[in-house]
Order: sequence, then structure tokens, then C-alpha cells
Amino acid sequence: MIIAIDGPSGAGKSTVAKAVAKKLGFSCLDTGAMYRAVAWRALQDGVPFDDDAALGQLARMHDIAFGHEPGDPAPKSVSIGGEDVTRAIRTAEIDRAVSPVSAAPSVREALVGQQRRIGRAGDYVVEGRDIGTVVFPEAEVKVFLTASDEERAHRRVRQNADRSIGSIDFDEVLADLRRRDEHDSSRATSPLKPADDAVRLDSTGRYIEDVIDEIVELARERA
Ligand code: C5P
Repeated sequence: MIIAIDGPSGAGKSTVAKAVAKKLGFSCLDTGAMYRAVAWRALQDGVPFDDDAALGQLARMHDIAFGHEPGDPAPKSVSIGGEDVTRAIRTAEIDRAVSPVSAAPSVREALVGQQRRIGRAGDYVVEGRDIGTVVFPEAEVKVFLTASDEERAHRRVRQNADRSIGSIDFDEVLADLRRRDEHDSSRATSPLKPADDAVRLDSTGRYIEDVIDEIVELARERA
């Protein structure tokens, strides 16, 4: 079974995906981490963000791998081309770089292929922007998760503090989220949008446990 969770940045997708996977005994795939890893590599190599062919080649050349601990559905680490980038992909620099890199059609083609291979190998909760529309249009459960801009920015600030990435400014995070959403929603290839058959959940002011239970219930109904 595939449970697709799409939505804008900071809507709570990662937290929800991990908890749903744990409750159901599924694995988790964070597709945003894959785009972030390619953006990191592109910055290291000085590849211009408008060079679709070079970005696509880079995405095809460097394997992205997730490191797991036994019994935990959520990966503990991510690497690209053998280099551990778990922390490096969560910086403000990557926040800025990832939208233009992920808009490159050949990057998307390369990563969507990998995502399908991973997801088809078992039961997965897959989170991203285009999972229900493009990557797994046949997913048994599709959720489009949103929250207000301010709540999403607060969560991102807390998440970075939890990951010990260093302090970040609320207003900067809010501006970045809005810029990234605008970029992700307006791009030509696989824009961020709900699938026609997605269940829309707004997590603003809701206990995250309720959202998690609602998705688990949807999965049980459709099993
Ligand atoms: O989910 P996260 O915020 O880590 O995603 C980072 C970026 O990766 C998004 O802003 C978006 O540009 C891109 N992305 C995408 N398609 C996905 C997942 C993420 O374009 N399926």
C-alpha cells in the first residue's frame, strides 16, 4: 500500500508520515530530502540552477541513500554519492536552493524514477509535493495536508531547534515558506497541488495525534 502525503512546507508532513508509518508498520520516504540532497550537490559543484541538463546528469550520477535503524520506519540519515548530508540539507542556504533545483524537469524525472522503485518495494508512507498527482497517482490513500502560514513557520523554527541546526528567525522562515510555496505551486513541471481524489486536512489548531489517527483510519478503511 502507498499512503501519499502532499502539502506545502511545514504543514507537518514529516511528523505525520513518521507516526502513521510507525502505527501501521510501514516505511517512510521523504522525497523532499532527495531534492535537498541534489540541491546540496549542485551547490558544491557550482552547477547553475537553470542548467536543466547538468542538474539532471548530477541527479542521475549520484545515488541517494537513506540509513535506517532497525525498527524505526523513519530514516536516521541521508547521503548522496556516499557523502552524509543529513544535517547539511537542512540549512537556510538549501531552503533557498531547493525550489529552483526541484523545478528542473530532468531532476524530477531522475528522482521520480527512484521514488517509484523505492515505494513499490513495500508498504510506504511517501511525503512530498507531487506524490498523489505524479509519483503514485494510484496510491490507495492520498492526503493533502495544510496549515496556516504562521503555524507552519512556528513549526519549522521548532523543528530546526530540535535538530540543533541553530536558531533561525521567525520572519525569515515565514518569508521563505511563502516564497517556496509560490515557487513550488507555480512551476510548470509537477506543481504543488492536491490530487482530485485527495482528502484535504488542515492541521491548524488541531492536535497532531488527531490528524495521525484520521490518516490511519483512512488507511484501514482502504486496506
Ligand atoms: O519537504 P521539504 O520542505 O523538505 O521539500 C523541500 C523542497 O523540495 C520543496 O520546497 C520543493 O521545492 C521540493 N520538493 C518537490 N517535490 C517533492 C518534494 C519536495 O519539488 N515531491
